[in-house]
Amino acid sequence: KKTDNQMLVIFGASGDLTARKLIPSLFNLYLAKQLPENFVVLGVSRSNLSDEAFRERVVYDSEYLKKKTKDLDQEKIKGFADKLYYEDLGDSYDTDYGALRKRVETLKEKHNTSGNIIYYLSTPPTLYETVSQNLSNAGMNAQNNGWKRLIVEKPFGYSLETAQELNKGLHKYFKEHQIYRIDHYLGKETVQNLLVTRFSNSIFEPLWNRNYIQRVEVTNAESVGVEKRGGYYDKSGALRDMFQNHLLQIVSLVVMEPPIGADAEEIRNEKVKALKSLRIMTDEKELFENTIRAQYVASKVDGKEVKGYREEDGVDPDSTTETYAAIKFYVDNWRWHGVPFYVRTAKRMPTKVTEVVIHFKKPHHQIFKGSGMQEMDNKLIIRIQPDEGILVKFGVKVPGQGFKVERANLDFYYSSLVDTYVMEAYERLLLDAMQGDATLYARADEVEAAWEFVDPILNYWQSGKDVRMYGYAAGAWGPQNADNLIEDDGYWRNPTEN
Ligand code: BG6
Repeated sequence: KKTDNQMLVIFGASGDLTARKLIPSLFNLYLAKQLPENFVVLGVSRSNLSDEAFRERVVYDSEYLKKKTKDLDQEKIKGFADKLYYEDLGDSYDTDYGALRKRVETLKEKHNTSGNIIYYLSTPPTLYETVSQNLSNAGMNAQNNGWKRLIVEKPFGYSLETAQELNKGLHKYFKEHQIYRIDHYLGKETVQNLLVTRFSNSIFEPLWNRNYIQRVEVTNAESVGVEKRGGYYDKSGALRDMFQNHLLQIVSLVVMEPPIGADAEEIRNEKVKALKSLRIMTDEKELFENTIRAQYVASKVDGKEVKGYREEDGVDPDSTTETYAAIKFYVDNWRWHGVPFYVRTAKRMPTKVTEVVIHFKKPHHQIFKGSGMQEMDNKLIIRIQPDEGILVKFGVKVPGQGFKVERANLDFYYSSLVDTYVMEAYERLLLDAMQGDATLYARADEVEAAWEFVDPILNYWQSGKDVRMYGYAAGAWGPQNADNLIEDDGYWRNPTEN
């Protein structure tokens, strides 16, 4: 695909995300010769920095680039760093952008970037509308001289209402097709591969429905705790931080109907339909039975003492914010009628892993009784991270007399594609936005449909009507009670098992 000459203006450029993700991704794109010929990054924030100081900070002295730049010749590093500039906004983002506009014009002339601009908002979400409004006041959103796009980071809203307000606010200044809402999980290779697995293989798609699938399970586990983000996390919690966005995006790709083509709007139309078909739980009994939350408590992990959630910096000692959430739900449409979905996400689990497990129904009639097959089901596992791959679990006969059955694995791992460079999520997403491809970005109606499902659960938890808040030892697979969610004595798959 062609990438137009353009400028990337990053608001919040002195923040962590710019140094940690954005600049390293741009640097990789530069090394892979994927950036357009005429390209400039203009960092913008309130800190007082010169262009040189900004370059030092995000390139020359950056711990995030250190490993990468170690073996590189200086010319390459300089070639990239020379594309970076910085503009200080003064005390506030809510100010006249006249000076910023002039700077953009000057850089545009100097580098011939032809008026195409991406504004990347890496500021707190409370500033998204303010920045858009000030861009508009300065005439910087005008499309008549090159295209203008807006990328916004998560979190997108705090509830359905705030997400709707945010959409309304942005739509005053930018058209929906100009807005790119980042969900970095959509940039992960295996998440996209879900579409290919489903829609390019005739061995999977015919089975992808209520006739053959018994249940769908999604696990997202992180071994880290809340790290330095206690203050943010305590106001958010697992449901807002991971489930509303990343996990429901994955669910929508599992649930969606085949789109008529791979075009961004076709795919996103189907995803919205999928999200709208999730059965919204409003009944208190239903909410009680199908949701579980928990917090990690102090424990020893690998011989080291690990703090409990309530002892973390920035966290209220009486906090009722969940670091573990498990939700069971149904999808009200033709394909999925009666198939339960189980989704869990948590911090301080034994390992970092994200996977989708499709459990197939057992054969209707068991011929090989006592073979061990009764306890086994066929599974298709889409391993999103780490060890990205697609794994099929099935039963084979153990050689010898009788019919003893053992599990066998047909596993494909991306790592076996030697020499294939798997792009990082942010690289992929930035390049897509630069090329005007919004397929892997969340549309306004998608985000709102996801909130519609999540809102009643949050409200129920906040209402105090459900006092259950389980504790689980840091480094364990969450509370025992979470297995009770799963029907027929089922239990969550242990992702570390083969
Ligand atoms: C972010 C959450 O969106 O995703 C973090 O805010 C979480 O809390 C992170 O750690 C996980 O991303 P990944 O790509 O490491 O799975």
